[in-house]
Amino acid sequence: MAAIGTADVLSVHHWNDTLFSFRTTRDQSLRFENGHFVMIGLEVGGKPLMRAYSIVSANHDDYLEFLSIKVPDGPLTSRLQHLKVGDQIMVSRKPVGTLVVHDLTPARHLYLLSTGTGLAPFMSIIKDPEVYERFEKVVLVHCVRYVSELAYHDHIVDELPEHEFLGEEIRDKLIYYPTVTREPFRNQGRITTLIESGKLCADIGRPPLNPETDRVMLCGSPAMLSDLTAMLDDLGFQASPQQGEPGDYVIERAFVEK
Ligand code: A2P
Repeated sequence: MAAIGTADVLSVHHWNDTLFSFRTTRDQSLRFENGHFVMIGLEVGGKPLMRAYSIVSANHDDYLEFLSIKVPDGPLTSRLQHLKVGDQIMVSRKPVGTLVVHDLTPARHLYLLSTGTGLAPFMSIIKDPEVYERFEKVVLVHCVRYVSELAYHDHIVDELPEHEFLGEEIRDKLIYYPTVTREPFRNQGRITTLIESGKLCADIGRPPLNPETDRVMLCGSPAMLSDLTAMLDDLGFQASPQQGEPGDYVIERAFVEK
């Protein structure tokens, strides 16, 4: 079987001038763990132009969904942003990645900390029934510059709690904390600042981050990852040394610059 398959675009949603998401068909044979990414792309100049995208949809959904920025002169996203229903994209057959709950040791609370399109893999993780079996509370933090970048905000707030199978678990266990840094919003400030000041935990009514009780997944820009891993290391959290070896936290770079 070829290493790259195809998928047909089912719908496209533009969140604002810089951000869009789209849904495609899913090949029956494509298996993945929630949190994984896959290479997707288009044929450009007769050759596949592929980039890594975290899968937004859950592994029990019968479609694939992706969240993307629009880079005006980006080799791929300058083209991808014009996708229309019925267009075909290429999808590699091997989803992979380090943001998987199996690489976290048991604990009570799971913190999913994201900036920008780093939210994408967490959308799949918050729809994973196993996550709610393993953790008492799941805290999803999404930090963006502008309110319009809070992709899936209404879906998380209004629709997920009514989810046919997971609604009850989500109502009981999922805490969503969107925060904005460059214009007024109900929550403001960077994740680093919100953790350091104690404001995040105070706002959600939880004790401060503690490796005894908490596990963390990080997905964002290289700067965000480096600041937050330094902070977690200082607090005594042990990083998962490599894929397949559990730790107190796992990280993945949000795949930008496309
Ligand atoms: P800020 O507006 O203060 O730069 P970006 O689009 O640059 O990836 O940023 C997405 C969000 O992540 C923004 O709200 C940004 O805040 C925040 N951010 C950028 N760098 C860091 C960092 N080193 N640590 C934590 N948050 C960051």
